Amino acid sequence: MLNVPIGVFDSGYGGLTVLKEIVKVLPGYDFLYLGDNARNPYGTRSFKVVYEYTLQAVKYLFSQNCPLVIIACNTASAKALRNIQQIDLPVIAPERRILGVIRPSVEKVSEITKTGHVGILGTTGTVTSNSYPIEFEKWSGGRVESTVQEACPMWVPIVENNEIESEGAEYFVRKNIMNILEKDRNLDTLILGCTHYPLLLNIIQKYVPESIKILEQGEIVAEKLVDYLQRHTELDSKISKNSRVEYQTTEVAQNFEEKASLFLGKPVKARTIHL
Ligand code: DGL
Repeated sequence: MLNVPIGVFDSGYGGLTVLKEIVKVLPGYDFLYLGDNARNPYGTRSFKVVYEYTLQAVKYLFSQNCPLVIIACNTASAKALRNIQQIDLPVIAPERRILGVIRPSVEKVSEITKTGHVGILGTTGTVTSNSYPIEFEKWSGGRVESTVQEACPMWVPIVENNEIESEGAEYFVRKNIMNILEKDRNLDTLILGCTHYPLLLNIIQKYVPESIKILEQGEIVAEKLVDYLQRHTELDSKISKNSRVEYQTTEVAQNFEEKASLFLGKPVKARTIHL
């Protein structure tokens, strides 16, 4: 059976929160998920390293027939996507496409914010890259006039170690939310700018006033992808549609399978590959 899947890449498990939402809106499509678990987290790594790792992953997914790759990782979208799109893609595969998670989030927030004051929660890498403020400047059409950011370096390890229900989770989520609320008292939208953060939503909601909208990226990326495929019918027609979702990891498959079920809420089978 011809397999021409949409590639979905993340540094590890987090992108599964994005994949889950994409599969809901495109259930007939084939997907190949790749988690670079052997080398994550990316959130604390330099630009150069995140770029090199992400480029390797994209090349691999192209070698597996993917005509379109979604970088379902904020850190990789922040630190590698633009370079790969502008420098590498025209040379290695001009007919293929790569999309990230930051631009769709920026577009969505620009549509819904009323005060134009937006908060971004992300990894240290995403925050220090300044990608969100830069993209808002470019794409919000002036609708977002002020952004504040907060790096939450403890949130990913909390989720990955399944400490979501712990006192530690409560402590760190409260601390970071209080910090960002303090930075701007007129916020009306808060972006969960990291793939893992939706898993902490119940705690986050406790500390965020109801007047502030909390934005999860999975649904937004999924909605924007449907729109993108409708506008790019030639690309859409290349993708095979047998409802097949494959999971690959650069780590031991069994480890991936155990943790992936936490993110997906169901068991999956994975395969180990080498980049
Ligand atoms: N997937 C990453 C992100 O969205 C978080 C995990 C990591 O640091 O690798 O930023």
